Amino acid sequence: MKIAILKERRPDEPRVAATPETVKKFKGLGIEVVVEAGAGEGASLLDAAYEEQGAQIAPDAAAATAEADLVLKVRQPLPDELPALPRGVLLACIMDPFRARPELDALAQAGVTGFALDFMPRITRAQAMDVLSSQANLAGYKAVIDAAAVYGRAFPMMMTPAGRINPAQVLVMGAGVAGLQAIATAKRLGAVVHATDVRPAAKEQVLSLGGKFLAVEDEEFKAAETAGGYAKEMSAEYQKKQAALLAESIPKMDIVITTALIPGRPAPRLVSEGMLRSMKPGAVVVDLAVENGGNVELARPGEIVEVDGVKIIGHRNMPGRLAADASMLYANNLFNFVSLLFDKDSKSLKVDWDDEIVKGTLVTRDGAVVHQALVPTEKGE
Ligand code: NAI
Repeated sequence: MKIAILKERRPDEPRVAATPETVKKFKGLGIEVVVEAGAGEGASLLDAAYEEQGAQIAPDAAAATAEADLVLKVRQPLPDELPALPRGVLLACIMDPFRARPELDALAQAGVTGFALDFMPRITRAQAMDVLSSQANLAGYKAVIDAAAVYGRAFPMMMTPAGRINPAQVLVMGAGVAGLQAIATAKRLGAVVHATDVRPAAKEQVLSLGGKFLAVEDEEFKAAETAGGYAKEMSAEYQKKQAALLAESIPKMDIVITTALIPGRPAPRLVSEGMLRSMKPGAVVVDLAVENGGNVELARPGEIVEVDGVKIIGHRNMPGRLAADASMLYANNLFNFVSLLFDKDSKSLKVDWDDEIVKGTLVTRDGAVVHQALVPTEKGE
């Protein structure tokens, strides 16, 4: 069996799908690994390090994928990457399936069997393969570090002979994987941390990290979590009550980090222009949902926007800003996923198409888009 690791083409994507450590583990299973030259550079992983662990270095994508059974990438291939994917090859990467439908159709037409790792079921057995969690955790940490870097004040309380510095007041919106890490990071830096979410389970987690929980806890809140552990889209009435609560708290905040997402839907709009204008000059807002429609009005992907002295950070690809760690965790997720598709006895691919993890992530097969969340039902939904 042969695995190809491709260099990412997007200018804002420094991560890589394998590390020298995962190459070593693949080799240990008897799997050949070919790495496209320069694939790891953005994550400080040089070709020589891969070679040392037994990888072959290929000069370009087509040379890397020739005779490959499985291609590992970070992001969905761009149209000009498709010719390098042989018909019948398996591909595993982050596909953003709800928004990248034309790209999925193109992948199906190219005869590629695609696994969208962002569809990984949230079950215990799949935790070590959960790329959304491994990457969101880093994004939550980095959002706080980025906010601290442009905030003109300190986070912790300091009593000095020259005067007292008050602790920063931080509000984290959305206390999932990214939000919980943002809370923990801001606490470690000495801030007073508040957090909000629509899922009741989040409350206990926020409190256990020393955060103060702030939410409209009505009947709708009590039923806001899906069986998959995600949030539902809230009613207009709930959103109004939530906005009123937030409008009261936001003027007191120095830093606001937003992380709220709803799978398959645009991110909920939580911070309005009015709320931004009610904040103190010097306050910093980080919108981690900026590439999914944005939680914050006026946030722009890839920009830092300033409104009445409030900075709104809209960095793209936040995990990519910690490319070395993000790649290491992502590569481990992929190793665990590939182990599921691999038969140790025959040393070849052996996919159990009925496995819950395989079924949950498989998006294209036999020339068609096949995932149940992406195929219209008979009722036309
Ligand atoms: P996510 O990235 O989809 O959303 C981030 C957060 O935003 C969530 O906590 C969500 O409830 C919140 N949110 C959505 N709409 C909101 C609104 N209008 N206002 C405020 N907050 C809003 O979620 P994520 O981080 O991927 O995780 C969701 C849950 O899944 C968490 O409880 C997490 O612990 C759990 N999980 C379970 C795993 C497992 O294997 N069992 C693995 C990973 C996560």
